[in-house]
Amino acid sequence: MTQQSGAAESGPSSAATLDNLLEESRTFSPSEEFARAANATQALYDEAAADREAFWANQADRLHWETRWSQVLDWSDAPFAKWFVGGRLNVAYNCIDRHVEAGHGEQVAIHWEGEPGDTRTITYADLQREVSKTANALISLGLQTGDRVAIYLPMIPEAVFSMLACARLGLTHSVVFGGFSAEALRTRIDDAQAALVITSDGQNRRGKALGLKENVDIAVRDADSVRNVLVVRRTGNDVEWNADRDVWWHELVDTQSEEHTPEAFDAEHPLFILYTSGTTGNPKGILHTSGGYLTQAAYTHHNVFDLKPDTDVYWCGADVGWVTGHSYIVYGPLANRATSVMYEGTPNTPHEGRWWEIVQRYRVSILYTAPTTIRTFMKWGNEIPARYDLSSLRVLGSVGEPINPEAWMWYREHIGSSTTPVVDTWWQTETGGIMISPLPGVTATKPGSAMGTLPGISAKIVDENGAEVGWGGGGYLVLDQPWPGMLRGIWGDEQRYRDTYWSRFSSEAGPIYFAGDGAKYDSDGAIWLLGRVDDVMNVSGHRISTTEVESALVSHPSVAEAAVVGAADPTTGQGIVAFVILRGGEADDGDALVKQLRDHVSKEIGPIAKPRQILVVPELPKTRSGKIMRRLLRDVAENRELGDVTTLQDSSVMKLISSGLAKPT
Ligand code: WT7
Repeated sequence: MTQQSGAAESGPSSAATLDNLLEESRTFSPSEEFARAANATQALYDEAAADREAFWANQADRLHWETRWSQVLDWSDAPFAKWFVGGRLNVAYNCIDRHVEAGHGEQVAIHWEGEPGDTRTITYADLQREVSKTANALISLGLQTGDRVAIYLPMIPEAVFSMLACARLGLTHSVVFGGFSAEALRTRIDDAQAALVITSDGQNRRGKALGLKENVDIAVRDADSVRNVLVVRRTGNDVEWNADRDVWWHELVDTQSEEHTPEAFDAEHPLFILYTSGTTGNPKGILHTSGGYLTQAAYTHHNVFDLKPDTDVYWCGADVGWVTGHSYIVYGPLANRATSVMYEGTPNTPHEGRWWEIVQRYRVSILYTAPTTIRTFMKWGNEIPARYDLSSLRVLGSVGEPINPEAWMWYREHIGSSTTPVVDTWWQTETGGIMISPLPGVTATKPGSAMGTLPGISAKIVDENGAEVGWGGGGYLVLDQPWPGMLRGIWGDEQRYRDTYWSRFSSEAGPIYFAGDGAKYDSDGAIWLLGRVDDVMNVSGHRISTTEVESALVSHPSVAEAAVVGAADPTTGQGIVAFVILRGGEADDGDALVKQLRDHVSKEIGPIAKPRQILVVPELPKTRSGKIMRRLLRDVAENRELGDVTTLQDSSVMKLISSGLAKPT
């Protein structure tokens, strides 16, 4: 029986999953040695429970405030929160300058490694110079506080310099993952009305130099808001050049002054917008602000990963294009003066031991990655990590999707020499930072469980009616108290913010945030995340909505109708399976058309959204009111016995669909 992480009209969890989880009896307590030296102790929970706002005020003291706040939280205009009201700070100053001023200028901030094997070592003093030059360059382009800047770059140091230069100047960045298509970039630039796009001539991917700027050229063709495109030379690819608009990074940035004095901004100044898929319509621009966001990023990074800035080497394997990269490659680690590793490429270039070679070379002590990556390493074989010295590792983290107990155990055993704590961290683009996770020196963990809320955070699992379920019960995950890193809204769409997150449940005590995830408490009260309960898929830890892929398919001239489901996948968590009905007169020419459609989706959204399987079908299963029954399609996609078909308008449809499936695509 597959462990289903997928959504279901039938509720957030299947009976089989519940039973499975209730049987998990293995627990791993922190070693005495680890607990003794750990940043976090039980006292942190006690402190937060005694006075939540005072607790967060203490956490905000991790940062340098130019002006102290007068009020910790203003929730009077809920669900619009203000944290650290009246406080002023500069986010980049907190991530760089204050460390240099405290005498840590020579400490390495980033050990960067390119896919072809080139390296750069960037100290905090280097970072201060590079970010100052970048900030001065942005000023010279006429950008002003509050302007939006789109960043479409591979995993190169300039991505970090660009983000921090924006933060330094009070510009709001919108990082767009380098794997997204020109079309996806265009909608994001347009929605945020970006004035500048920062990109590169290309990106290294699996040993090839792929183009990148050409996507920008397409995306900005009709974008009135974009005045300039700043281009980093990375791969040496030939690029088209528009002399009125395009500027080379090495010509503009490298000639700037290395000095720039940061000014302080309001705690609620917009820091970034990051787009994420919802159940309907265009991706939502999730808005994050400065003081509360940085407080939560720094606090969680310090405690969940037990970061010791003088001795640890920290590596988060995500891409800066996702929120994990924002909070745990850039803002959290740099605010905490971490020494980090940053890697440009894919894990199997030029060989499947590349990651472990990096861990060995830099003596990485803290590693943070996604279950899909862990499962890929499992597939490649135990003997690969076994060839390297991984003894420097002391904390392992997981994020992005539910981690199955088997992958959790493998991670601890084969990467963590059966001794390191594993922290499974639940959070979202919207939450800004980690919300549910063990603390490595405190919590006895169970493989596959994110365990409990962090100190200062409140979550509940509720039933359909919003009533909290008891231990052993399952339902919907909600957050019933505001938190400092919470999104402040959806860019340009107040109503959508209320509707998406705050309208499903409510309580006398105040608004309730609906996360979109199913969850359950086991018999000890530990939290198990069960995947999305809406039509959002989770493919390799990336959020993709079924509607988005359906729209892409229907935009192809051969497709009349499409239904997309996420089906359990042993490596990627979920795989995208599409059922399409062709337009009248279109012959199903089989493989060629299917390939065309897969490429079409890739072009419309990006390669991460390419369906694993496309099945051409004569009909789709619909209820009498015309709603597509995805549940049945998921049954088909996962090779399961069909569930209840009695509400189908035409019950013979499923026979037609199933019989057409003999031919694999
Ligand atoms: C969705 C958020 C947070 C950074 C990466 C994804 C799923 C995330 C876990 C976890 C189970 C998880 C949820 C959530 N998710 N972490 N540890 N266990 N599920 O950010 O793209 O905003 O996606 O990812 O379904 O809602 P995102």
